[in-house]
Amino acid sequence: MSAPKHFLDLHDVDAKTLRTILDLGTSLKKDKTAQPLRGKSLAMIFEKPSTRTRVSFEVGINQLGGNAIIMDGPSSQLGRGESVADTARVLSRYVDAIMIRTDDPQKLHDLAKYASVPVINGLTDDSHPCQLMADVMTYEEHRGSIRGKKVTWCGDGNNMAVSFIHAAERFGFSLTLAVPKELPVRPEVLDWAKAEGADITVTTDADAACTDADLIVTDTWVSMGDADAEQRCALLQPFQVDAKRMKLAKSDALFMHCLPAHREEEVTAEVLDGPQSVIWDEAENRLHAQKGVLAWCMSE
Ligand code: CP
Ligand code: NVA
Repeated sequence: MSAPKHFLDLHDVDAKTLRTILDLGTSLKKDKTAQPLRGKSLAMIFEKPSTRTRVSFEVGINQLGGNAIIMDGPSSQLGRGESVADTARVLSRYVDAIMIRTDDPQKLHDLAKYASVPVINGLTDDSHPCQLMADVMTYEEHRGSIRGKKVTWCGDGNNMAVSFIHAAERFGFSLTLAVPKELPVRPEVLDWAKAEGADITVTTDADAACTDADLIVTDTWVSMGDADAEQRCALLQPFQVDAKRMKLAKSDALFMHCLPAHREEEVTAEVLDGPQSVIWDEAENRLHAQKGVLAWCMSE
C-alpha cells in the first residue's frame, strides 16, 4: 500500500504538486458536475471554531460525490483523552481522509503518523495552508501568475504569516512582512525560507512594506487562542491597512484577508469593503481550492 498523500503544510508538498492541486481546483470550479469522490467519506475534527473551513469542506466533499462527518473535539472521545494515535487508527478504518483544525500542530503530525488515510491541515496555531491555496487561486484569477509579484503582509507572525512564507517560496513571489518586533515570525520558518532561497523581507516599517505592492494582506490581531488581546492590539495598531497604505501600493494592487475581519482594527472598512478588496472571491475559493486538495489527496 502506498503512503497516504497528506496535505499538512505547503513546504511539505513540492511546488509542481501544489500547482497540480490548484489546476485541479480550477478545473473543478469550471465543471461543477464532476464527482471523482463518489462514495468517499471525509472526517473533520474541529477543536477550534470555524465558519469557512467547516462549510467549504463539507460542501466541497458533497459536490465531489462524497460525504462528511463532523467531530467537534468535546463531543468525541478525543475530548475525553483518547489519544490522537488511536483516533487516527480507528478513523482510518471508516473514512477515506481526515481534516483537522486544532491548536497544537503536534496533534496534526501525530494524526498523519498513525492514520493510513490522507490527513489535511484545516489550521493549527502554526499554519493555515488551505487558506493560501485559495489566496493564490484568487490572486491569479484577478491578475494572472503570482510569480515575481510583491506581496505584503501587515500583522503579527501568526499561522497565516507562516503559510504566506511557505507559499512565497513554493509559488515564487516576493514577500515583505511588516511585523512588530514583539510578535515575530518563528525564527525556524525564516531560516527555512532563507535556506530555500525565498525572497522574504521582514521589517517594522509598514509604509515601506506597502510601497509598490501588488497584493496587501492582513489578518485579525487576535488569533483564536491568543490571550493577550489588549497588548496585541496596541502593538499592531501601527500596522493597520488603510486607504493611505493602499495608495502606496501599485495602482492595480489587490487587498485580501482570510476572514473573519475586524473593521477599523487590522483593516479599515474603506479598504475591506472597497474596490481593491477581493475578500468574497477569496472566501469562495476556499471551496474550489479545497476540492482540488480533496481530489488530489484521495486519488490513487
Ligand atoms: N479563514 C478561515 O479559515 O475561516 P474560518 O475560521 O471561518 O474557517
Ligand atoms: N490567524 C487566525 C486565522 C483565522 C482563519 C486565527 O488563527 O485565528
